[in-house]
Amino acid sequence: MSTAPVLELRGIDKSFGPVQVLHDVAFSVYPGEVTALVGDNGAGKSTLVKCIGGIHPFDSGEYYFEGRQVSVGGPRDAAALGVEIVYQDLALCDNLDIVQNMFLGRERKRGLVLDEDTMEEMAAKTLVGLSVRTVKSLRQHVSSLSGGQRQTVAIAKAVLWNSKVVILDEPTAALGVAQTAQVLELVRRLADKGLAVVLISHNMNDVFAVSDRIAALYLGRMAAQVKTSDVTHSQIVELITAGRSGELGLQNGKEATA
Ligand SMILES: Nc1ncnc2c1ncn2[C@@H]1O[C@H](COP(=O)(O)OP(=O)(O)OP(=O)(O)O)[C@@H](O)[C@H]1O
Ligand SMILES: [Mg+2]
Repeated sequence: MSTAPVLELRGIDKSFGPVQVLHDVAFSVYPGEVTALVGDNGAGKSTLVKCIGGIHPFDSGEYYFEGRQVSVGGPRDAAALGVEIVYQDLALCDNLDIVQNMFLGRERKRGLVLDEDTMEEMAAKTLVGLSVRTVKSLRQHVSSLSGGQRQTVAIAKAVLWNSKVVILDEPTAALGVAQTAQVLELVRRLADKGLAVVLISHNMNDVFAVSDRIAALYLGRMAAQVKTSDVTHSQIVELITAGRSGELGLQNGKEATA
């Protein structure tokens, strides 16, 4: 594809104490595309995403955003670039309503008081822009929402901030069939709006239904990054479980040159 990646990592190493979790990882994400990040439990997907989001500092490697090398020292740096992450353990507060959740920590103020009208308007606009119609009231507590609706609010929260890259860590893991379909439609719509979307998922049907590219991590190494249209389900399953599939993937522990 001719477009340049909006976000690119090179040579990322990350250890927790003596345990090295990421080894020389390269990862690129493109505007207008959904990149599925796959890998077995413990492969390092969430850790990689937390490095991108500035939650974990990585030990070595390079981080490029829109072609420029940047240093991301914390979540604020990532947010300032336009990188938003919906974490596996959804950070929504049950006892707050939808608007309060979407603006949590970044509330709009008019003078000394909260600008509730503007926040509600922006929240509504964002949800309408994403064609979200299943939420009845923006002032309903998040505790009263279904799992799929909660995901929708978390995703809407991530795109509220003129984001360029939105990363979703297993957004459909706890959802039923209908709600999964809704969230996947939303994922596709984000990419169609020009955002770069990273979707972490264990569900191969979801991955093949919605992604343009697939990046497979195997034991903390990037086994392969491929176009979805160039591979089969079983090749991806092999990359996930063995780190390689024929010519594709790790050869003697190194990523094959494509
Ligand atoms: N804060 C931490 N401290 C120590 N080890 C950690 C920490 N976070 C993750 N790890 C370890 O790093 C490895 C990768 O974990 P990670 O959560 O990134 O995997 P994952 O690919 O997201 O798995 P899953 O599919 O189960 O969510 C695991 O062995 C895990 O135990
Ligand atoms: Mg994880």
